[in-house]
Amino acid sequence: MTPPPSTIRGRHILVTGGAGYLGSMLVPALLGQGYEVSVVDLCIFGDDALQPVADHPHLHIYKEDIRELDRFSSLLRNIDVVIHLASISNDPTSDLDPDLTISTNYLATTALARWARAQEVQQFIFSSSCSVYGASTGRLLDELSHTGPITLYALTKLASERELLELSSNDFRVTVLRFSTLFGLSRRMRFDLAINAMAKSGIDGKNLVVNGAGTQYRPFVHLLDAADAILDVLRAEPSVVRGQTFNVGGDHLNFTIQGLAEEVQKAFPDIAIDHATANVDVRSYQVRFQKIVDALGFKPRRGVLDGVEEIKRAAESGVLGSMDDKRYYNLAVMKESSDTKKESRWSVVSSPKDNTSTAKSPAPRRGKSLITIGQTHDE
Ligand SMILES: NC(=O)c1ccc[n+]([C@@H]2O[C@H](COP(=O)([O-])OP(=O)(O)OC[C@H]3O[C@@H](n4cnc5c(N)ncnc54)[C@H](O)[C@@H]3O)[C@@H](O)[C@H]2O)c1
Repeated sequence: MTPPPSTIRGRHILVTGGAGYLGSMLVPALLGQGYEVSVVDLCIFGDDALQPVADHPHLHIYKEDIRELDRFSSLLRNIDVVIHLASISNDPTSDLDPDLTISTNYLATTALARWARAQEVQQFIFSSSCSVYGASTGRLLDELSHTGPITLYALTKLASERELLELSSNDFRVTVLRFSTLFGLSRRMRFDLAINAMAKSGIDGKNLVVNGAGTQYRPFVHLLDAADAILDVLRAEPSVVRGQTFNVGGDHLNFTIQGLAEEVQKAFPDIAIDHATANVDVRSYQVRFQKIVDALGFKPRRGVLDGVEEIKRAAESGVLGSMDDKRYYNLAVMKESSDTKKESRWSVVSSPKDNTSTAKSPAPRRGKSLITIGQTHDE
């Protein structure tokens, strides 16, 4: 049960990436529950998403780079909980500049957790991704299943998960949330996510495009349900979430891309589904979400069509402006600051036991360390 705001007022939460797609919806929810919130975000995609709550007396916004902890850590006093969302947060954007991805998604993440532990922060909630499962054989994957990341993005998430969980203790409880692909309307909108992109096609009167046969499975979850899962972890008994990994989504929200297109099509009956042959993404995973049901009673309350309909209404109201604006596409924005695909100074290596050693960068130069993703293991 949600404690009345008065009993939790004063609990101070640091949200990194609080101006992002998920963060900009989570932060107002936290303020509404009576938490004190500090946001650290470079605001790469703009800072207007937090505008509606910018003057809230319990919100503090620091436009800082999480990789420069020394610059801003002294500003953060008496933090009780860290919710770490800041990230280079999809596959193509992560591939653009591997150094930036590794320093943000892995090095800054683990440094932040070590700092938080030293500061006697009690709880650290890490936003990971179901993409750590990679291409799987088709059986439902749970938190004990073999992981097989096939992209740099997923590798950095998995490497961080492991290091963070090693830091977990009775006094510093780490929880890893492996989110399904998010969808739905946010104050910081993204149209580079599968369901949102399909909704945009329908709104634009364009056919929905499915690459290949569309048989690859993905799990999805509405971003407000993802925010609810974070709130559930915050409120949970420490022993239930300490050192735990949870998939976040719902069994019924595993869709093939073809099935997803058919679901989205229900909102646009005049639109057809086209099949393209290019760029088939081999990632396929069906995920099981029983653990988070059993531990926290969490079940997503919103379906695909809820997200599509709210995006449709927002587009019709004109509030989104042009949905082709590059601010809605992480890759387009990041490309601006990185014209060419860069070689990495780091090396992401997999052990011989790891059968997913596809994401390798050139050997390290200039004495930089390695991230080693060892044997994929049953956690
Ligand atoms: N969106 C999804 O479908 C999805 C799925 C699984 C997991 N996740 C994870 O959830 C989290 C939130 O995702 P999102 O969709 O809101 O992403 P987003 O890209 O919208 O937000 C990320 C935020 O992090 C900030 N940021 C990036 N680098 C930073 C840095 N060095 N210092 C400070 N701030 C920085 C950006 O400015 C942005 O506001 C991410 O960790 C992402 O990997 C997202």
